[in-house]
Amino acid sequence: MTAVVEGTANANDTSQIPAPDGSVTVTVKIQRFNPEVDSEPHWESYDVPALPTDRVLNLLINIKGYVDGTLSFRRSCAHGICGSDAMQINGINRLACKVLVKDLLAGGGRRAGKTRQGKPTTITVAPIKGLPVMKDLYVDMEPFFEAFRAVKPFLITYGNEPTNERIQSPADRERFDDTTKCILCACCTTSCPVFWSDGSYFGPAAIVNAHRFIFDSRDEGAEERLDILNDAEGVWRCRTTFNCTDACPRGIQVTKAIQEVKRALLFKRV
Ligand code: SF4
Ligand code: SF4
Ligand code: FES
Repeated sequence: MTAVVEGTANANDTSQIPAPDGSVTVTVKIQRFNPEVDSEPHWESYDVPALPTDRVLNLLINIKGYVDGTLSFRRSCAHGICGSDAMQINGINRLACKVLVKDLLAGGGRRAGKTRQGKPTTITVAPIKGLPVMKDLYVDMEPFFEAFRAVKPFLITYGNEPTNERIQSPADRERFDDTTKCILCACCTTSCPVFWSDGSYFGPAAIVNAHRFIFDSRDEGAEERLDILNDAEGVWRCRTTFNCTDACPRGIQVTKAIQEVKRALLFKRV
């Protein structure tokens, strides 16, 4: 990752952004990078009106709509479901559509601003780490999805076609319930220090998605996936630092899932 240089603070005219009753002024400091003109990323700041109940995504949409249409970021559902707007907000991986301004103002989060009542506060927004930045806040997700595809994240069966649906007990379903919640946002993988230092590590998200099928009683591909994850870049690279679990916006026990996969490899049974 290249060095980050400071841009001119507050040079952007935000006066056209509507300021509803009850809004406060928030400084949104965004890491900008346009590969066509910039040799390295820089920071730009925008003083914008914000309601406590605004999501950070609202602020970004206002900046793009009223101040600088070239600001680039991904988003789709805006409701914490599609996983496309993962970014570092105040230094922590989160979904911009799930973080409320009031949680940042009130000191929510480990590194939130130390704002005094009525004073502007600063919210920093930067792309997730460890994946190539394409422009501003969006990154090339291909290495992430390559690892996801490599663990065969689909049901594998060999013969024995059932004539009805594949029956599963509630207890068997429970074994992988947590890992079905993954939305592939990459918050976990891009908060992992092992992934930062070696992009060829599969990363926690790929392991979570392997877990989802390895422990599914209807699946017959556990051995293949475990072989893949037994690789030099597989589960054994995990240092159990729990960054991934802390980062997951779906509350998935990511590190626990990784430990379960390690145990399945050690004891050769799922
Ligand atoms: S627990 Fe393992 S996978 Fe998760 S962040 Fe730490 S090293 Fe990475
Ligand atoms: S495990 Fe959680 S943080 Fe990781 S990709 Fe899935 S939803 Fe995102
Ligand atoms: S925009 Fe879909 S999860 Fe945030």
